[in-house]
Amino acid sequence: MRSRRPDTTTGIVAVVCGSRPSSETPSRDDSTLRAFDRQTALLGLDYVDMYMIHWPTPFDWRAAETWRAFVRLRDEGRVRSLGVCNFLPEHLDRLRSETGEYPGVDQIECHPTWQQRDVASYCRSRGIAVEAYSPMARGADLDAGDGLIRAIAREHGVSCAQVILRWHIENGTIIIPKSVHAERQRENLDLFGFSLTPAEHAEIDALDGPTRAGHDPLTFSYA
Ligand SMILES: NC(=O)c1ccc[n+]([C@@H]2O[C@H](COP(=O)([O-])OP(=O)(O)OC[C@H]3O[C@@H](n4cnc5c(N)ncnc54)[C@H](OP(=O)(O)O)[C@@H]3O)[C@@H](O)[C@H]2O)c1
Repeated sequence: MRSRRPDTTTGIVAVVCGSRPSSETPSRDDSTLRAFDRQTALLGLDYVDMYMIHWPTPFDWRAAETWRAFVRLRDEGRVRSLGVCNFLPEHLDRLRSETGEYPGVDQIECHPTWQQRDVASYCRSRGIAVEAYSPMARGADLDAGDGLIRAIAREHGVSCAQVILRWHIENGTIIIPKSVHAERQRENLDLFGFSLTPAEHAEIDALDGPTRAGHDPLTFSYA
C-alpha cells in the first residue's frame, strides 16, 4: 500500500479501549482494527511506520488479543513495525509467551533522573529497541544535578537540552523530545557535532533516582 504522504514518518500510539469480547460484542481484534481504520482516516494515511500498545494494564491484560490484530495489520502492509509503551520485563515476557513475539520497540519513560536501566538492558538483551519518552523529564531535568547539566552545556557551547539528548544517543536510545518551538526542534536535532567525555557521561549516569515524571505502568489505566 502506498501512503498519500510517502515522505512522512508517522508514529501513532494506539489507545485501545474496546469492551471485553463476548457473543454479544465485537471481538477485541475487531475493535482494534476499527480503531486503526479510524485513526488512519483522520491522519489521511494508508499505512503507518509504527503502531504501539500504549499501556500494559496488567490488571486488565488484553495485550495478546490486541497484538494479534496488530500482526494482521502488519501482514496487510498497513503497519511496518509493531511496538509497545510502558511494558516492564514481565509484560514483555507475557506478550511473547502468548503471541510468540517480542515488540520491535518499547517506549518507556527515561531521562537522567529516572533511567530504568534494568528495563532498558532487558530490552536490549532481547533485541527490543528502547525509545525514551519524556527524555528531558518534561523539561524538569534541564536543571538536574544542581547545575551539572548547565556546566556541561557551557563546556561544549551547547544547550542543556542538547546535553541530555546527546547522553541518550550515546546510550543507544531512540528519543522523541517534544517542543512547540521550531528553533528548539532544530536544536534538539543538532546532536552530532559534539560528544560527552566519559567523565561527563558518567556524571549524568549518576543522576539516576526515583523521580518519575509520568505514571506507573503497574497501576495506570489510560483507557
Ligand atoms: N508513551 C507514553 O506513555 C508517553 C508518555 C508521556 C509522553 N510521551 C511522549 O513523549 C514525547 C516527549 O515527552 P514530553 O513532552 O513528556 O517531555 P520532554 O520531551 O522531555 O519535554 C518537553 C518539554 O521540554 C521543553 N523543551 C523541549 N525542547 C527544549 C529545548 N531545546 N530547550 C528548552 N526546553 C525544551 C518543551 O517546551 P516547549 O514545547 O515550550 O519548547 C516541553 O515543556 C511526546 O511526544 C509525548 O507524546 C509518551
